[in-house]
Amino acid sequence: MNVLILGGTGMLGPWVVKSLKDKHKILLTDIKEPPNSYDGDFLKLSVDNLDGVIKAAEGMDCIVNLSVLRTDRKLAFDVSTKGNYSMMEAARINNIKRVINTGPHFQLVGQSYEEWDYNLNPDMPAQPGTRLYAISKFLGQEICKRYADQFGIQLITLLYYNMRHHLDLTTPDFEPAELHNDMTPFTTSWIDCGEAVRCAVDVSKERLASNKETFFISPNIPHQKFNSEKTYKVLGWQPRYTLENLWNKKIVSSDGHKEDSY
Ligand SMILES: NC(=O)c1ccc[n+]([C@@H]2O[C@H](COP(=O)([O-])OP(=O)(O)OC[C@H]3O[C@@H](n4cnc5c(N)ncnc54)[C@H](O)[C@@H]3O)[C@@H](O)[C@H]2O)c1
Repeated sequence: MNVLILGGTGMLGPWVVKSLKDKHKILLTDIKEPPNSYDGDFLKLSVDNLDGVIKAAEGMDCIVNLSVLRTDRKLAFDVSTKGNYSMMEAARINNIKRVINTGPHFQLVGQSYEEWDYNLNPDMPAQPGTRLYAISKFLGQEICKRYADQFGIQLITLLYYNMRHHLDLTTPDFEPAELHNDMTPFTTSWIDCGEAVRCAVDVSKERLASNKETFFISPNIPHQKFNSEKTYKVLGWQPRYTLENLWNKKIVSSDGHKEDSY
């Protein structure tokens, strides 16, 4: 398949490229250049550039959207709403039948669900709350849904929680440690996050219950706060790293040395 990736040179992008590149032909796009190690096709492109996205999507079979801007109000909406509008217009005009959108879990199960401790699932009514990141992503998703309904486009949405390298699960230096104290159990390794996109590109239409399917990308954990059953069953996604050490609040260093985090 020919796959157009939008916002593909961020943190998740390289892992998506790694998962897709042997089987699919990729056109990677972003406002930021890819690393020197990337030797595939690249186009500098902003997702809110409607004409540019339509042109880049010519001849594509699938569009994957990894773009996000989390903090600046205007840019957040430009990327998530105008950007998703460009993506869906490009799909409509180029007759592309599959679009894969990504975002954080809280664009669906946001603030008002935070106290829930069991069976949050991707088919619940969305309650993103009012955080800029959540609400701009939620609104972008609504645009995608309207296009999916009106133009028969298959929309697959992958919602992630917290991504980390399976060999380095510590909080990055640039983030306050306490930010991740309670997030760590819902962590997915980068490699598995990339692989989820490949599953969404490859899954046959017959396996999908509707033209708008949303999946949590998170390994199943014992107390099932986030229910990822549908992801396992329908997408056939099998995480390689279940990160049990995080559920136990242990840290494993890159040389495999284990120590208690508290
Ligand atoms: N990293 C995480 O832990 C995490 C957790 C939950 C969800 N997600 C979701 O995963 C997806 C990928 O996130 P990420 O971690 O790679 O984010 P990132 O911030 O590392 O990358 C986002 C990319 O979008 C690009 N971008 C910004 N503005 C753009 C524009 N106008 N046009 C084109 N590209 C633009 C950036 O240059 C960047 O390369 C997003 O949908 C995000 O919401 C990530």
